[in-house]
Amino acid sequence: MDKLLIQGGQPLDGEIRVSGAKNSALPILAATLLADGKVTVGNLPHLNDITTMIELLGRMGVELLIDERMSVQVDANSIKELTAPYELVKTMRASILVLGPMVAHFGEAHVSLPGGCAIGTRPVNLHVQGLEQMGAEILVEGGYIHAYCKDRLKGAHIFLDTVTVTGTENLMMAAALADGVTILENAAREPEVVDLAECLIAMGADVRGHGTSTIEIHGVESLHGCHFDVLPDRVETGTYLCAAAATRGRVLLKDTREDILEAVLLKLEETGAEISTGKDWIELNMRGRRPRAVNLRTAPYPAFPTDMQAQFVALNAVAEGTGSVTETVFENRFMHVQELIRMGADIDLEGNTAIVRGLDYLTGAPVMATDLRASASLVIAGLVARGETLVDRIYHIDRGYECIEEKLQLLGATIRRIPG
Ligand code: EPU
Repeated sequence: MDKLLIQGGQPLDGEIRVSGAKNSALPILAATLLADGKVTVGNLPHLNDITTMIELLGRMGVELLIDERMSVQVDANSIKELTAPYELVKTMRASILVLGPMVAHFGEAHVSLPGGCAIGTRPVNLHVQGLEQMGAEILVEGGYIHAYCKDRLKGAHIFLDTVTVTGTENLMMAAALADGVTILENAAREPEVVDLAECLIAMGADVRGHGTSTIEIHGVESLHGCHFDVLPDRVETGTYLCAAAATRGRVLLKDTREDILEAVLLKLEETGAEISTGKDWIELNMRGRRPRAVNLRTAPYPAFPTDMQAQFVALNAVAEGTGSVTETVFENRFMHVQELIRMGADIDLEGNTAIVRGLDYLTGAPVMATDLRASASLVIAGLVARGETLVDRIYHIDRGYECIEEKLQLLGATIRRIPG
């Protein structure tokens, strides 16, 4: 298993390019299953999760053409198997995103139930109930969700009792080919949901209200091919900004968007960071100052994202003052706290709140990554710590951060991958 070795203590300084968004690319690759024509998806990040989704489509017999710039052309008409097998689903929960498109387009789908997860129980009941409301017959047996629909799915009025990102995406994709109008109430408003809606529209779907909590989908009989570039990754953007703030450095991020990062940028400004933005770039400069601790509470978009919580815990650990960080989206997303404590951090966990008392410095230590964003927080901690930090199990990082060590090297960090 590869590890990352970090020699901490230097402020980050430099410019890098932000990659395409993982959480937009995954549903959009699943959405290609809805089209009768060829769909090309561009600006895909080089990430293990993207490779897993491409492998999943390939296993179903779907013909794929991948070019050297990671554009992928998908021809869903060549599909042979309507199954997402356990071996792939267990490595990536987002595989559930093929359920809606498959049953809507091909009338049948067999998708392994995703198992447990390091950050919470993460059920998929709302995906299943929504499809049932649209007329799919669903049977859960042998660890698989079997979904059938003889004719077209039917439009339905669906109220989601929890805001769910992939749930909203699965149902929006299924509704695109349903007969009649589907209304999704209490829908997720995340930019990745909006990006998927824009892609569906480029394929000929009639989707309205995306970006609000009520999405209206007027089903059409068929969807056609298109070319679609996924939006920049706001969590990758936020992670590098946070790393620059924690190390008292400066970073210029290109090919990104400030309009989808409002809650995060506000918190970074509260730490004392100077932030300037343009149409497709964001610059953060601490001018060598120590960040101030911030209080925050995660919630669905446009509130502060759960995917940025761990990185801010690391930042607070070396900030001036005490910050309280409350997680409301997932019930067990504080696995990084114990590892940060091993690096000397002063953190108390009280229920779903971490009280972080900022220290002058952390101390390098061997630590273990437990999930994707937790690993990012350990890397940030390693960058600010005195001495060496060895982050183990970085396969978690490789799921969501493209070439993290190369990008950090470009920003002046002393970090290298140790193949294991
Ligand atoms: N939930 C239910 N029932 C459902 C679906 C969700 O109770 O049927 C609950 C979950 O247990 C959770 C809450 O609803 O407590 C929100 O979960 P959501 O469904 O929104 O999460 P997700 O769609 O599985 C996506 C991202 C996550 C991100 C969350 C929240 C993708 C592929 N994944 O997950 O990203 O944390 O939304 O914003 O889009 C990551 O990138 O590191 C990551 C975990």
